[in-house]
Amino acid sequence: MTKILIGNDFWKQKNDGKDIPVFWNEGEVSNHHVGVAGTSGSGKTHWIREFVTGMPNDVEIDIFDYHGDIEIPGAETVLFSESTRYGYNPLVLNTDPHYGGVRRAVNDVIEAMNSTSRQLGGNQEGVLRHLLTDTYMLKGIFADNPRSWVKREASEAEMREMVDKKNWSAMRDVYPSLNDVVTFARRKLKALWMGIEDKETGRNALGAFDDYCKTMASLNQLRAKMNRSGANGQEDEFEKLEKKLEASKAKSTESFATFVNSMDTGREFDEAIKYNSKDVLLSVITRLENLSATGIFNPNPPPFGGARIRRYILKPLAQSEDELKMFVRFRMRAIIREMMQRGESGGRLRRLIVLDESKKFNSEDGSNPINVVVTEMRKFGLAILLAGQSPAHFSQDFIKNAGTLLILNLSTSDWREAAAKLRIEERDLKYLKPQQTGAVRMLEKGQAASFRQVSFK
Ligand SMILES: Nc1ncnc2c1ncn2[C@@H]1O[C@H](COP(=O)(O)OP(=O)(O)OP(=O)(O)O)[C@@H](O)[C@H]1O
Ligand SMILES: [Mg+2]
Repeated sequence: MTKILIGNDFWKQKNDGKDIPVFWNEGEVSNHHVGVAGTSGSGKTHWIREFVTGMPNDVEIDIFDYHGDIEIPGAETVLFSESTRYGYNPLVLNTDPHYGGVRRAVNDVIEAMNSTSRQLGGNQEGVLRHLLTDTYMLKGIFADNPRSWVKREASEAEMREMVDKKNWSAMRDVYPSLNDVVTFARRKLKALWMGIEDKETGRNALGAFDDYCKTMASLNQLRAKMNRSGANGQEDEFEKLEKKLEASKAKSTESFATFVNSMDTGREFDEAIKYNSKDVLLSVITRLENLSATGIFNPNPPPFGGARIRRYILKPLAQSEDELKMFVRFRMRAIIREMMQRGESGGRLRRLIVLDESKKFNSEDGSNPINVVVTEMRKFGLAILLAGQSPAHFSQDFIKNAGTLLILNLSTSDWREAAAKLRIEERDLKYLKPQQTGAVRMLEKGQAASFRQVSFK
């Protein structure tokens, strides 16, 4: 079983001059989740390196390197930027009948968009759901038929070549991309314009119907007013409106009959309802185009090859917090699914996610993948190593469940809150020196959880 030396017991060293080593023991800790909190320069990256290099060599590791400073010997590094164009096609399906499929992929895209500062409205979400599902259908991929979920993943360049060569049959064999969704949505938008409204008959029917509705509303308003405060000489007005209502009713019925007689696909109404209003559809197209422009969802899988330690340098994405969040959340959800699909591990650690700058990704929300990993993924052999400037940037779920918490030097202003959150004495936090001392809590099987002061020297 793998052991990692954290340091020596601080008080034993101070009082008795004895070095009593404190180890992180893979087989003893109740789970493999690790939290490291400390101010800038206190040693978070140092401890990330210690844990990653100390892991058994059959554990796969995904490092989300936001600062681009977590160098690890033997790690395969990929830079994600607008010029490398590496990304993950969000429409590639996990083909497992229990853990994968169209509905989950659609939800993941929506979840990723909703994790940003600009959430989708209810109508937008509905429209996006239809757009994604229909784009899959065009490729012969159906939510309720797992056999249809198996397709090939093509890169951006391959897709472009297929289009250039008009190789439609090859295009049916690959998963759609976000660009396909945008193209499809633009076609739908046109159809909405051209459909009911573009035809003279459709426009007349809608116009007459609208008139009829407005007249009826005015009439009802006037009736209510007269009931409240007497007729007051408004009888003429009322009579006029009644006549108008009759006329617009007749016109509406007539123009509607004309429109119905000239319909041709039989799907005009369904389409109009499904894609809501043109405004909503257009706003969803804009969101999709922006998403596509970020590049993180480009269908160009990063060349990690078969590397065991994969380092994703996300520094160029850091300019947009939304992109960064979407990328990490989306990728973590895919990893969670892969690990669930592999099945339970019997307590063995199989894969570790490393995430620095927890402040950017933290939330109390139960669907946040950090919270999902820490509360549900132990039995599937997936753990997370989360680092942040302060315990305030760890969720309650994380603090409660993480098997190991390593607290380094904290900023003065964080002492009180951290002490309360971690159930540790404030004075035990005050004396932590950057790169020299820390407090570690390891939940070990059958033992009470408490913090121990350690010296790294
Ligand atoms: N326990 C330690 N033993 C020896 N050197 C250490 C230890 N902890 C940190 N250092 C060294 O201190 C320096 C700063 O540490 P590190 O980069 O890990 O800080 P950090 O908490 O990640 O800071 P930031 O928040 O700015 O990323 C590094 O040069 C690192 O090698
Ligand atoms: Mg660091």
